[in-house]
Amino acid sequence: MPSNAEAVRQALSHAESIAVLTGAGISAESGIPTFRGAGGYWNHLRFEDLASPQGFAANPKLVWTWYEERRRDIAKAKPNAGHLALVELERRTKAFTLITQNVDGLHERAGSQNVLRLHGSIWTIRCEKCGAERTDLSELTELPPVCVNCQGRERPGVVWFGEMLPEQVLSAAGKAARTCDLLLVVGTAAQVYPAAGMIDIALEHHAVVVEINPDATPYSDEVTYTLRGPAGELLPNLL
Ligand code: OAD
Repeated sequence: MPSNAEAVRQALSHAESIAVLTGAGISAESGIPTFRGAGGYWNHLRFEDLASPQGFAANPKLVWTWYEERRRDIAKAKPNAGHLALVELERRTKAFTLITQNVDGLHERAGSQNVLRLHGSIWTIRCEKCGAERTDLSELTELPPVCVNCQGRERPGVVWFGEMLPEQVLSAAGKAARTCDLLLVVGTAAQVYPAAGMIDIALEHHAVVVEINPDATPYSDEVTYTLRGPAGELLPNLL
């Protein structure tokens, strides 16, 4: 019997249409903490305080301070071998869509092209008052930052708990999950919806679904193959 890794290698080389769903785990080897699991943010911080509209309304400075710390850490981090393997997979695959829950931008920095960011970007800043959005990679000194157009309060351009995902991005992700031959699920605890729902969509449409994660997830028993271990080690070996 071929090993799971060999079977996945074969499936990847034969698939014409591949979708990938990534989560915080793919950036763990770049030194960026995950949310759940060992060392995860939500083990010692409350997401209600830091990643919800109510938390921001109650204490915008606290929320911005946390985001600004993360922005500085992410700016120093580099894409790892897992991000780079997905760039190579895209290069050699006819139809490829990378759906990510990550806001760090490391997929784009690695060179991935067709990226759908379900939860926005930590580098985007949006005015609460006039809705103007801007990309800002610099260190922010004034927290919360203020909109130059209307002096409104600005917020991180990410999706918080209780908020809608960007409609067009979600619809494109759903289409990719529905039409792919193979869905690779990398580094996500698969507990946050609608992102995790991409796995249900792919399974319903009989795609081969591969989970890459050191730990089990709620989908581990449903997927076609599970590969246990860090993405930065496993992904390059599948090409
Ligand atoms: P989580 O932090 O919930 O899950 C990270 C997953 O990565 C876990 O299942 C780990 O086992 C796995 N993992 C850890 N190290 C890994 C490695 N080296 N290689 C592969 N996998 C590894 O992150 P997400 O599932 O992305 O949303 O979380 C989803 C959303 O919840 C985030 O986008 C964020 C968070 O709250 C918002 O803030 C709205």
